[in-house]
Amino acid sequence: MPTIAITRRLPSRAYELLRQCSDLTIREHTEDRCLQPRELHQLAMGADALVCTLADRIDSQLLKSVSPTVRIVSQYAVGTNNIDLEAARTLGIRVANTPDVLTDATAELAITLMLACSRRVIEGDHLVRAGQFDGWSPTLLLGQRLSGRTVGIVGTGRIGRRTAEILRYGFDCRILAWSRTPRASWAHQHSVKYVALPELLASSDIVSLHCALTDETHHLLDIDALERLQPHAIVVNTSRGPVIDEVELVRRLRSRQILAAGLDVYEFEPQLAAGLADLDNVVLLPHVGSATNDARSAMVDLCIGAVLRVLAGKDAPNLVV
Ligand code: GLV
Ligand code: GLV
Repeated sequence: MPTIAITRRLPSRAYELLRQCSDLTIREHTEDRCLQPRELHQLAMGADALVCTLADRIDSQLLKSVSPTVRIVSQYAVGTNNIDLEAARTLGIRVANTPDVLTDATAELAITLMLACSRRVIEGDHLVRAGQFDGWSPTLLLGQRLSGRTVGIVGTGRIGRRTAEILRYGFDCRILAWSRTPRASWAHQHSVKYVALPELLASSDIVSLHCALTDETHHLLDIDALERLQPHAIVVNTSRGPVIDEVELVRRLRSRQILAAGLDVYEFEPQLAAGLADLDNVVLLPHVGSATNDARSAMVDLCIGAVLRVLAGKDAPNLVV
């Protein structure tokens, strides 16, 4: 009877799907929290499949020690930077993720952060709650428009492209883009202009990050890159925290060399860089890009579906290795 090790409590739909296959055992930690490496190791040892999240570090050491039995690592997320894909490939372990179904949710969250920063939504909310709203004012909380602005999209995978299209058609924005793998026909179709990263940074009113975290994109927005941003620029990150040098970002936000930042992810997640939470020109969310009921439910179908298919000796559409 195959054993499925699940590192973190999933939406109930996952268990409904698994229960439909009576001949398998589910192994979970009793507490719903991120596991320590040793606990993760214990949980996965001897299992046939491992269902994990982006907070679990699935390195080559872990993969080697579970490889005699584990045939698939199925990640409940689209980003797989926490998994050593090369090691999995070498060991013959399949790896699945959850693409497509969270594209709209994450693109919507990026635009939520753009609007929240531009229109100072959090400051306004705090002001009203603090009892400081004493009636309409001609000068209260003036912000920036989103319509017609220039937005730089860094990374034009599914989420970056969707974000660009919403901005193009919904807000009449001018779209600049940067990617290591430009998509010429998509860009042509949607009037998107691919430019070099320094030019994107220097010319955009808003810069939104959508690239995967790799060795090449680690600190893509480092001190030199951040230096290029205009003083009215807004930075939005719904990808992975380490794409930005967060300490340097805080420094520039504090000295108002950048207008604002909207962040859903953090370099040292869940820790924040010192001083970040004290700034009033940031909007901070707890990594909820894919957190809609619809997206999470569809992610369950993909994530658990891949496990059941691979254990049955079949292929799955969402295998990355
Ligand atoms: C979330 O960050 C994901 O990669 O799905
Ligand atoms: C992902 O969004 C990418 O651009 O690779």
